[in-house]
Amino acid sequence: MSGDPESEQATTGVAATRAEQLRTLIRHHDERYHALDDPEIPDAEFDALVIELRELEAEHPELATPDSPSQRVGAPGQVAFAEVRHRVRMFSLDNAFDLDDLTAWSERVLRRLGEESPTPTWACELKFDGLAVSLRYEGGRLVQAATRGDGRVGEDVTANVRTIDAVPERLADGAPAVLEVRGEVYLGLAAFAALNAAQEAAGEKTYVNPRNTAAGSLRQKDAAVTATRDLSFWAYQVGEVVGSPDLASHLDTLEWLGGLGLPVNDRSERFDDFTAVLDHVQAVEAVRHDLDYEIDGVVVKVDDLGLQGELGFTARAPRWAVAYKLPPEERTTTLLDIEVSIGPGGQATPFARLEPVFVGGSTVAAATLHNADQVAAKDVRPGDTVVVRKAGDVIPEVLRPVLSDRPDDRPPWTFPTKCPECGTGLVRGEGEAATFCPNYACPRQVRGRIEHFASRGAMDIEGFGEQRVDLFVTEGLLGDVADVFSLDFDRIAAFEGFGEVSVANLRAAVDEARVQPLGRLLFGLRIQHVGVTVADLVAASFGHFDRLLDATVEELEAVEGLGPIIAVSVHGWLREGRNRDLIDRLRAAGVNLEAAEAVTDDVPQVLDGMAIVVTGTLEGMDRDEARAAIAARGGKSPGSVSKKTRALVAGENAGSKLTKAEELGIPVLDLAAFQRLLATGELPG
Ligand code: IVH
Repeated sequence: MSGDPESEQATTGVAATRAEQLRTLIRHHDERYHALDDPEIPDAEFDALVIELRELEAEHPELATPDSPSQRVGAPGQVAFAEVRHRVRMFSLDNAFDLDDLTAWSERVLRRLGEESPTPTWACELKFDGLAVSLRYEGGRLVQAATRGDGRVGEDVTANVRTIDAVPERLADGAPAVLEVRGEVYLGLAAFAALNAAQEAAGEKTYVNPRNTAAGSLRQKDAAVTATRDLSFWAYQVGEVVGSPDLASHLDTLEWLGGLGLPVNDRSERFDDFTAVLDHVQAVEAVRHDLDYEIDGVVVKVDDLGLQGELGFTARAPRWAVAYKLPPEERTTTLLDIEVSIGPGGQATPFARLEPVFVGGSTVAAATLHNADQVAAKDVRPGDTVVVRKAGDVIPEVLRPVLSDRPDDRPPWTFPTKCPECGTGLVRGEGEAATFCPNYACPRQVRGRIEHFASRGAMDIEGFGEQRVDLFVTEGLLGDVADVFSLDFDRIAAFEGFGEVSVANLRAAVDEARVQPLGRLLFGLRIQHVGVTVADLVAASFGHFDRLLDATVEELEAVEGLGPIIAVSVHGWLREGRNRDLIDRLRAAGVNLEAAEAVTDDVPQVLDGMAIVVTGTLEGMDRDEARAAIAARGGKSPGSVSKKTRALVAGENAGSKLTKAEELGIPVLDLAAFQRLLATGELPG
């Protein structure tokens, strides 16, 4: 602050306005989250609002009010259920958002304990993303279950909790007279997916996420509804206990709870050294998606109960524990615009241009919206605040708009009627998900076909990247792939940036491409359904392009590995006049039309028994080829997504399979991730 009273007043005025704004926002989102179980914004955004308010109130203590949402631990008590006063308060946890925060917490612990104290041992547990409940057992029988509420008073949800199979009605022999167990009620990912599948089948609205669905399910007035939800429970703490054995550590306590028949997660670990804790939390981040339930962090606790007693509590949270939050996988950002890109096959794919946002470990500025139906279903509109998800190695996705941020007069987005590249009217076939630009001469398609022809898997022409293809097409040097072999190098030499050496290199690269074997040429021609594998199979079977020219569908189908769809596609391509001309021109340009000697490789069986589903259009690899590549490595490629599916390979215009995989928490791979999987058998973590 400046010390000048007038400007100080002004600063406080700004701070007061912001504090009020934040309180209103926090109350709104708190209600969406806790009372309605239907959050609009990701948890990370909500945390950021609370942190900002707390900081503002710390800086301007005169602005703090006793009813400020910054003072509250969690949800307000709800009126619909009877109140339960917790005999031992249910605290929340302070958060550490990165490794520095976490280290700072451990240093605070050490400082508080003092030099005399033995170095603490650390207990690490997963931070389950559900809702906290307290279960009260008397004489080994479950007598009451309550939500956390505001930490002092919660809601009586006994009848609902009794429907959860994982919560025992009776504890094993040796239970103490009174035992309050705190833990998390959650909905596993498979249960969540099954519930949403049932909702969809019934034509009902699907649920947004497992956490809020678990909360909503637990707070049903009718316990019979809760019973249908397949909720689960992990125990992680005790409240009031009368008559327990002598327990010295937190993890011993968990083991004891496990022995009494309570579900205790087996991923808890004890570490003597804090650097091992730092390694551990990062390792958890890597396995986060292998679990059948959602976690949002790792809780690190001082293991020794005596030391916990010394450390005590702040007004909100224990000093002996901290929640290390994993990087958020969902964030909000502004949807700047929805644009349509034209693929080399003419597919018109809508995508979101986003205000860049750091989410799931990288900055995301664009995300595919797949097709017209998906945009309509999500009802995202340019200008909206939208929730973006990027989990691990999967393709970033726009989940939904934040409707409370949308003015009433914002119009819905409509699919353009004309190709943004060539102005031709776009077409969408009856019952088809994809929209197409039907103009074969559309410059984007021409460029796409030539880029593909020159790409590494096809004719492999060095120095024939996107920018050069763009230039040559724009300058009228290239109209189709056959033109590659009659390039006017004298004109190219006159272009800016082309020295003698680069022109000579380009000429040599084109000459080398002329002798590529038939398999590569066939792949390079972008015949629908013909990827690298199919192209090689056809080449090996026919030996020369001339023998292929008049092949019947039956002859094509007779090729091992070719189904009727591919056979019809190849046959149709060969019958088209413009393609016959193209082949004649390639022949005239001295392009090799003969197959290479067959080579058989022993492909390592890295996908042995794994079910990998393929959907959508993959750039540079046909779906059948992708399936063949999976089969060649010992994997299976079923036509639909189920719980057994290990991964979904999704290209452009992926439809319901993508939705299903996401619901089931199955990793979704783009082409790069799929190629890594084919090479190593490893799924992204
Ligand atoms: S211990 C006094 N352990 O996270 C310590 N909490 O953000 C109380 N949570 O209210 C909490 N997993 O709902 C603890 N392994 C775990 C947890 C856990 C999830 C939740 C719990 C808590 C919230 C705080």
